[in-house]
Amino acid sequence: MKVIIQKDYENMCEWAAKHIMDAINDHNAKNPEKPFVLGLPTGSSPLGVYRRLIEANKAGKVSFKNVVTFNMDEYVGLPHEHHESYWAFMHDNFFDHIDIPECNVNILNGMAEDLEAECAAYEAKIAHYGGIDLFLGGSGVDGHIAFNEPFTSLTSRTGVRDLTEDTKIANSRFFNNDPELVPSKALSVGVGTVTDSREVLLLISGHNKARALKECVEGGLNQMWTISALNMHNNAYIACDELACGELRVDTYKYFLDIYKSERIEG
Ligand code: GLP
Repeated sequence: MKVIIQKDYENMCEWAAKHIMDAINDHNAKNPEKPFVLGLPTGSSPLGVYRRLIEANKAGKVSFKNVVTFNMDEYVGLPHEHHESYWAFMHDNFFDHIDIPECNVNILNGMAEDLEAECAAYEAKIAHYGGIDLFLGGSGVDGHIAFNEPFTSLTSRTGVRDLTEDTKIANSRFFNNDPELVPSKALSVGVGTVTDSREVLLLISGHNKARALKECVEGGLNQMWTISALNMHNNAYIACDELACGELRVDTYKYFLDIYKSERIEG
């Protein structure tokens, strides 16, 4: 696992957006007939990345016409029109501002009559595209990836998930600060769905994620911190900021700063 430490949130997003753009442009140059398959998260962490990708798209530096996306998760019971559905979040913050064809966008339907069938079809569709080239993700304060809460199997596949009280409290900031208004269930890709991707890139920033970063980087493979599954992936990156490094050992911090110094954005 490669840990790329940047000075702050903006530099972390700058690095990640460039990394994603390079991957798409490189893929399109080599296989123009095959779409680039991109996994995407919601949350505050990716917003700076989405902003930069939109700017780059408008400036003609990257195109999403040949990109197919699969989102990580969606609340159960929120229709598309609900402003806190992940469908609405993704369209407001990303898809409505880039040149991606709507038919290339895949988001789990939390209103499906048969939720299990919806999840099985999602896995089948990912397989139909030959798997995911790059999965971008974030982390919960408790180290969850997508909606795979602590103790979810590290080989889990797309399915229905119960949200913990902690996650409902963390996400209540989007629901009038009332955890009761946060849906209790979600559909989510599995940890195994993410780690099957050819590349995984997680964004971890801020003091409140420092323990999750420490457990993931120094704590070994552990089902209590589902992001730690990245340790078993042979092409996984964590892009983080200085604030998220607050709990790392000094020698761990120095090690990653040193070996990836060429990735550091100055200024
Ligand atoms: C939710 C999402 C996760 C996301 C997490 C952290 O739980 N299901 O995919 O990583 O929130 O969000 P934020 O980036 O806002 O801290």
